[in-house]
Amino acid sequence: MGKDVIVACDFSGKKEVLDFLDKFGGRKPFVKIGMELFYAEGPEIVREIKARGHKIFLDLKLHDIPNTVKKAMAVLSGLDIDMCNVHAAGTISMMEAALEGLKRPDGTRPLLIAVTQLTSTSEERMREDLLIDKPIDEVVMHYALNAKKAGLDGVVCSPLEAEKVHRICSDSFLTVTPGVRFADGNKGDQVRVMTPEQAKAIGSDYIVVGRPITAAEDPVASYNRCVDEFVG
Ligand code: C5P
Repeated sequence: MGKDVIVACDFSGKKEVLDFLDKFGGRKPFVKIGMELFYAEGPEIVREIKARGHKIFLDLKLHDIPNTVKKAMAVLSGLDIDMCNVHAAGTISMMEAALEGLKRPDGTRPLLIAVTQLTSTSEERMREDLLIDKPIDEVVMHYALNAKKAGLDGVVCSPLEAEKVHRICSDSFLTVTPGVRFADGNKGDQVRVMTPEQAKAIGSDYIVVGRPITAAEDPVASYNRCVDEFVG
């Protein structure tokens, strides 16, 4: 898979998401399904969107004991998804177990990406709530290296971290970056943002874009603009 724009379909139900995807006609954007939609509609929504021809990033951020994660991943890979994720905080052995669980009988598997530190976690909260007394940047890079050691394909990270992750882990280690906004757009609740063009320049492999597309007056035009700027 090459560089692509992943549309974060943060909708609360089946009707909303299918109405949205219908707007794209024959085009089939790479779709991110998160916890809200998955918990509301169950695995059937994944099968339905997949059957319509979309690639799917199932963003459920698993974090549990290795055996539980392995078994859960085996179920998810049976849904024919293309990408999924775990928390790197679950440790290297949990990430290795996740990878094992994902392997399908035919030898294929979805891409597996690790969440490092959530971008909603500040250095202060990490220190006081989690008792992690290191600079956040160091923690993110350490978790990225752990993900690489476990054999994962990449990490979800802030676009501002993507360049360093590539330098430390390797150019082929994937960086999936949310927090993307158009230069003339509204930032909403995202603080550290980049335009699709900037994300391309710093080497992001996939950008995850939600509201700049889903809440746009013309979502298809916004999606096309993202693809033009990012994939070019
Ligand atoms: O609407 P917006 O473009 O901000 O959506 C970004 C998507 O990426 C959302 O689904 C959000 O949950 C997800 N995300 C994020 N920051 C992270 C990890 C995931 O914004 N660190």
